[in-house]
Amino acid sequence: MYGDKIKILVTGSEGQIGRAFCRIANKIDQIELVAVTHRNFDVTNLEQVTAKLASELPHYVLNGAGFNQVDAAEAHPHRAFAVNAEGPRCLAQACHDLSIPLIHISSDYIFDGHYESGYKEDDEPAPLGIFGQSKLQGEQHVREAHAKHIILRVSWVFSETGVNYLTKMLDQAREHKTLRAVDDRRGCPTAAHDVARVILAIMEQIEEGAEAWGTYHYSGAEITTRYRFLEAIIAAASQYEELAVRNIVPIPGAQEEGVERPTSSVLTCKKILNTFGVRQRPWRVDLQRLVRELYGQDGSKVVQPTTETRAEALGS
Ligand SMILES: NC(=O)c1ccc[n+]([C@@H]2O[C@H](COP(=O)([O-])OP(=O)(O)OC[C@H]3O[C@@H](n4cnc5c(N)ncnc54)[C@H](OP(=O)(O)O)[C@@H]3O)[C@@H](O)[C@H]2O)c1
Repeated sequence: MYGDKIKILVTGSEGQIGRAFCRIANKIDQIELVAVTHRNFDVTNLEQVTAKLASELPHYVLNGAGFNQVDAAEAHPHRAFAVNAEGPRCLAQACHDLSIPLIHISSDYIFDGHYESGYKEDDEPAPLGIFGQSKLQGEQHVREAHAKHIILRVSWVFSETGVNYLTKMLDQAREHKTLRAVDDRRGCPTAAHDVARVILAIMEQIEEGAEAWGTYHYSGAEITTRYRFLEAIIAAASQYEELAVRNIVPIPGAQEEGVERPTSSVLTCKKILNTFGVRQRPWRVDLQRLVRELYGQDGSKVVQPTTETRAEALGS
């Protein structure tokens, strides 16, 4: 564990990963958290970013802020590029000036998904749409502005709060008898709290003297499809609640509305294992745990997930 107390500033701390990170880090005595939200800290505002970092002087900045709505990014490219590219540039510049390591989260969407075997960190990026392009530009800005960075690419993030595949599909399963899910796109779901665990493990190694700056992949273990993931979600939730859904229909990705998504979002996670000793954890274990948490201790009290369904959550 860490020696002296370390201060970590977390942006986007109300998002899935930001929130999960703060929840775990709050329980660690040696960590002092500065959790900022979109309301009080805009990552695209260089003046604000610089002033806040200079006054707090954290040991690390974790950038949990992002614009993750894949379809909306096509309609609002300036917003996607502002949050996903300009934001990381501002943070990287300010972190560079103050020599603060920056942990930035990126995405499998920087790849086109045509490569079936799993993407390595140095494979050629080729984003399919605005969202992926904006994430790729964010990575490039971070690399150019600040050597002391970790870019962590993750895929298919889910958690018990906010709008994501788990909460959205549970909402739909309560309402509809039949659900449809894409069965020809492969990827690895990753629990937000698992990403938080990995970030903490990396920080701990850096505290121990590891100077392994650069880009890493991480995802939950076991390749699946949205259809298979949905089956697992329904099976887990059905232990606690009588859902309306009776039938899950597999569909090809071509039948799904919206912009083209990568056919394979599989990220090879060997570099993070070899460098930091971080092993992939099975997403099914995390799914069971999150669903159990959603339903309370005795399994009878149903805690409804957030229902503000932005149509985008499926793809991000
Ligand atoms: N979700 C996924 O499946 C996935 C997959 C791969 C990578 N990632 C990456 O992981 C990171 C975190 O994702 P997540 O799923 O935790 O995101 P999330 O739940 O959508 O949360 C993102 C947070 O960023 C905040 N934010 C947006 N614009 C901001 C700005 N200009 N300044 C400060 N904060 C701002 C949002 O606040 P408001 O809601 O108030 O705007 C929200 O709290 C992102 O970089 C994302 O691209 C996510």
